[in-house]
Amino acid sequence: MAIKILGTGSYLPENIVTNEDFTKIVDTSDEWIVKRTGIHERRITETPTYVMAETAARRALENARTAPEEIDLILCTTVSSDFITPSLACIVQGRIGAKNAIAFDINAACAAFVYALDLADMYLLRGMGKILIISAESLSKITDYTDRSTCVLFGDAAGACVVTAGEGKFAASFGCDGAGAWTLFARQHKNQVPFVEVIDPQEIDRFPDAKDGTLYMDGKEVYKFAVGAMAKALTDASGKFGLALEELDLIVPHQANIRIIQTAAKELKLPLERFYVNIGRCGNTSSACIPVALDEINRAGKLTAGMKVGLVGFGAGLVYGGCVFEV
Ligand code: ACO
Repeated sequence: MAIKILGTGSYLPENIVTNEDFTKIVDTSDEWIVKRTGIHERRITETPTYVMAETAARRALENARTAPEEIDLILCTTVSSDFITPSLACIVQGRIGAKNAIAFDINAACAAFVYALDLADMYLLRGMGKILIISAESLSKITDYTDRSTCVLFGDAAGACVVTAGEGKFAASFGCDGAGAWTLFARQHKNQVPFVEVIDPQEIDRFPDAKDGTLYMDGKEVYKFAVGAMAKALTDASGKFGLALEELDLIVPHQANIRIIQTAAKELKLPLERFYVNIGRCGNTSSACIPVALDEINRAGKLTAGMKVGLVGFGAGLVYGGCVFEV
């Protein structure tokens, strides 16, 4: 038994923000952004995360010819939900009327969709029928638009898929380096309790530039981690699947920086054409990157039976995850 994708969906906000638009708010240029990241434009919206999630979910259900009542579990991944509680998954469960589903969120940053697929695989083994996975991110909510080194990278989007048990195989590999937590983080707004003195945690004292509620990143450190993590996750997952790397038909990586994808491809001795890339149009939408890409590939008719597909993500934690499945 292995996980089988029954249908996919996504939502990309209409509002496009170009590199040229960024030159009006920070000291940057289209040339710098394209050369260093591969990003030309990204989508940014005021639409709540839960509405983006709901739209992607409805599209995935329609594509999977599945009624909301058939769903047993909704797994949502996000680092930018509208609410601390309840979970994004519970809000979507109510809005789409998936009354038989249990629902909860996962936070594994940009790698979370791969974690969700693995968790879904385990729940399917325990006998669940159909599972809806949704990754929805409004990174614009947690972006510091005065920090040129991060603000040009991020966008908003949601991607979803419906999965069930099928024939074939699924293999995954994960890793975590919590010592790298402070290379990429966004902290909550400060405690407002009137009865105690509010002090910053010691770790945060070291980052006077980090602002409450927005992403802080040491780009160079994350970059180094990302290249190694991508290579390791894909190699390990392919090995567990019983495939040589070059037998993978398609790799859908997290879209953080085109240079990270190029370097990882080189390290893995795989042609760049084997990697799906949409970073130029969407930027980095954290956990939504991979399911949005999967939906684009699926709707272009390019997910064909028997194909071996590798997914790989990495991000804040620091965490990474890779998996290989057969379509
Ligand atoms: N425009 C113009 N100049 C800029 C910009 C900008 N937007 N941003 C930074 N610079 C400048 C810097 O200030 C620096 O100037 P200096 O030399 O005068 O100090 C110079 O460009 C070089 O900066 P670097 O940080 O060395 O640039 P680098 O080539 O490393 O690119 C980047 C930065 C794009 C952030 C890269 O490090 C990267 O992609 N890192 C990985 C990011 C990532 O993978 N994130 C994934 C997780 S995201 C998540 O989990 C939500």
